[in-house]
Amino acid sequence: MDDKKIIFSGVQPSGVLTIGNYLGAVKNWVELQEEYNCLFSIVDLHAITVQQEPAKLRQRCMEFLALYLACGLDPEKCLLFFQSHVPQHAELSWALTCTTYMGELSRMTQFKDKTRNKQDANIGAGLFNYPVLMAADILLYQTDLVPVGVDQKQHLELARNLAERFNRIYGDVFKVPEPYIPKMGAKIMSLADPTKKMSKSDENVNSYISVIDDADTIIRKIKRAVTDSDNRIIRGEGKEGIENLMTIYGSMTGRSYEEIEQEFEGKGYGEFKAAVGEAVAEGLKDVREKYNYLLQNKDYLKEVAKNGSDNAYKMAARTLRKVHRKLGFVDRF
Ligand code: AMP
Ligand code: TRP
Repeated sequence: MDDKKIIFSGVQPSGVLTIGNYLGAVKNWVELQEEYNCLFSIVDLHAITVQQEPAKLRQRCMEFLALYLACGLDPEKCLLFFQSHVPQHAELSWALTCTTYMGELSRMTQFKDKTRNKQDANIGAGLFNYPVLMAADILLYQTDLVPVGVDQKQHLELARNLAERFNRIYGDVFKVPEPYIPKMGAKIMSLADPTKKMSKSDENVNSYISVIDDADTIIRKIKRAVTDSDNRIIRGEGKEGIENLMTIYGSMTGRSYEEIEQEFEGKGYGEFKAAVGEAVAEGLKDVREKYNYLLQNKDYLKEVAKNGSDNAYKMAARTLRKVHRKLGFVDRF
């Protein structure tokens, strides 16, 4: 293995990938794969913490693999795999569960949010233990850096604590991972309410653009985006909608806010929105075409996933073997 640092991130196979995810995260990953040894896993074990329809889950997992490839992740440069294909995730999760405190897991804000107004009797133990599984994902690969959004910071902190605790009790096994803060991922706001983050789980489909929306849909959604009545393409108080469109346009075309202001000086929102719609449709055209092509090529997708999990398996097995030794398990005969 070369001496590049290791990056791990998990992707939930749920919802759709929006231009928020694309411009804020996935585009960054495409750059990371040049500099680091990256592992990106589609975390199906995490997905079943809430009940799934099996046929849909299977379909969605393949679609997500196709999506990430279409966005530019290159299986020659990073490992892409399904979490359930590497059984060590679940195995390490158990070992870590035994050194995790109920108190720690009860303090996870995502768990508290997801279980608010529910009775203990009806809360799945998987949902409670989910951050331990996430820690196992990360620690299995001796990960140096984990690119995550703010909502996952607390889970990453737990992974660090669990690594340090295990190392202290049983002796050094795990690298203690650090969060990776991307240089500048654009934050994309909702098209319906520009004070809110664009989110794939928003029930209003006009509030987000999926990376595989067709050109007409993209142009229509941008046209309907909430703005203001000032009719000037500049940033400022009360102009969050316009600023958001400027951010989107800038991220797609590589232009700065100043350049965009100059380009549209004296022009109205109609013309600006048309230009943004065109730029987004054009920028995502390749993604959409590649995605559709890949979905027709299941054998290729399977080969990518197999190669990814074969390689991930080897790395994971090495760590788990050490863990078993430290714990005092008898070697396999
Ligand atoms: P999520 O879809 O919330 O699970 O987020 C997956 C990744 O995409 C995280 O790294 C987020 O920070 C990023 N992301 C999600 N929505 C946006 C957005 N509207 N703008 C920028 N980045 C986003
Ligand atoms: N929990 C993360 C999410 O919901 C997904 C995830 C699972 C993950 N395992 C991970 C992210 C390991 C980073 C590292 O988005």
